[in-house]
Amino acid sequence: MKPGEPSRTALMIARQRAAHQVLDHGSILYDPFAMKILGEDEKGVLQFANQHSLASIGRLFTAARSRIAEDALSKAVERGIRQIVILGAGLDTFALRNPHGARQIRIYEVDHPATQAWKGQRLAEAQIALPPWLILVPVDFERDDVGEKLVAAGFQQNSPAFFTWLGVVPYLTRDAIGRTLDYMSSIQNSEVVFDYMEPPQAFSEEMRQLVKERTEQLEKMDERWASRFEPAGIAAILRSHGFSGIEDISFEEIASRFGPAVQGLAPGHAGLHVVHAKH
Ligand SMILES: C[S@@+](CC[C@H](N)C(=O)[O-])C[C@H]1O[C@@H](n2cnc3c(N)ncnc32)[C@H](O)[C@@H]1O
Repeated sequence: MKPGEPSRTALMIARQRAAHQVLDHGSILYDPFAMKILGEDEKGVLQFANQHSLASIGRLFTAARSRIAEDALSKAVERGIRQIVILGAGLDTFALRNPHGARQIRIYEVDHPATQAWKGQRLAEAQIALPPWLILVPVDFERDDVGEKLVAAGFQQNSPAFFTWLGVVPYLTRDAIGRTLDYMSSIQNSEVVFDYMEPPQAFSEEMRQLVKERTEQLEKMDERWASRFEPAGIAAILRSHGFSGIEDISFEEIASRFGPAVQGLAPGHAGLHVVHAKH
């Protein structure tokens, strides 16, 4: 990320969520705040969605990973978890849509300080008030100790927590990923849902060209894909951090489960996965 500037990819993902509302009627992830928080009109969002014939694949994956995370999170709340941590929150609106408000849960949104400040401005401009259960924790995963920052914000290390970490792992160094996993695994009965990316060979040919273009675009934005993993590699890393009950959901599974809800879904295979792991 450019120093002092918010994440550009957070904006791109928010546009995909908004496009999902407009084109697919939020059928995977219904988000009444997606357009509002963005502050753009439908025309701009549609232009973004139609920029590339394969953009529908990104829209599917963006909506599906949140659906998977939020479903797992709901089950965790049913089991008694009351602390939710959204790592690298970007313009994620779960805290605004929180269906568990009556259960006294706390939602910690952790993000890069510049992205978090920008989100605050977006919310203020859209006249969306911060809900009482939301606690903002500015953190740079590459420099800061996420645990220290969370505890300073009131997070209870001795109580279980559910972490979501969507669209973040590919942008972090392996060191920062390892430190964050270390912290999550220090919380008894913690759970995490995150997504990761395989090396380019795992993408179908037409997707590989898009991956190449995105890589160049990200380079210019100073937000690069720094870490890619093979499925066996990610499972080994999680196990080495003491996670078990690892569910790795491949792009094929996502496309077969959620693809029919995406209008004009382009054919193609992406080396993208969503993982749900328990400690
Ligand atoms: C692709 S966006 C995803 C945002 C959000 N999770 C979503 O799905 O809409 C990546 C997010 O990771 C955050 N991020 C990237 N590198 C970071 C770092 N070193 N420290 C803290 N946050 C970081 C960015 O600020 C941004 O919010």
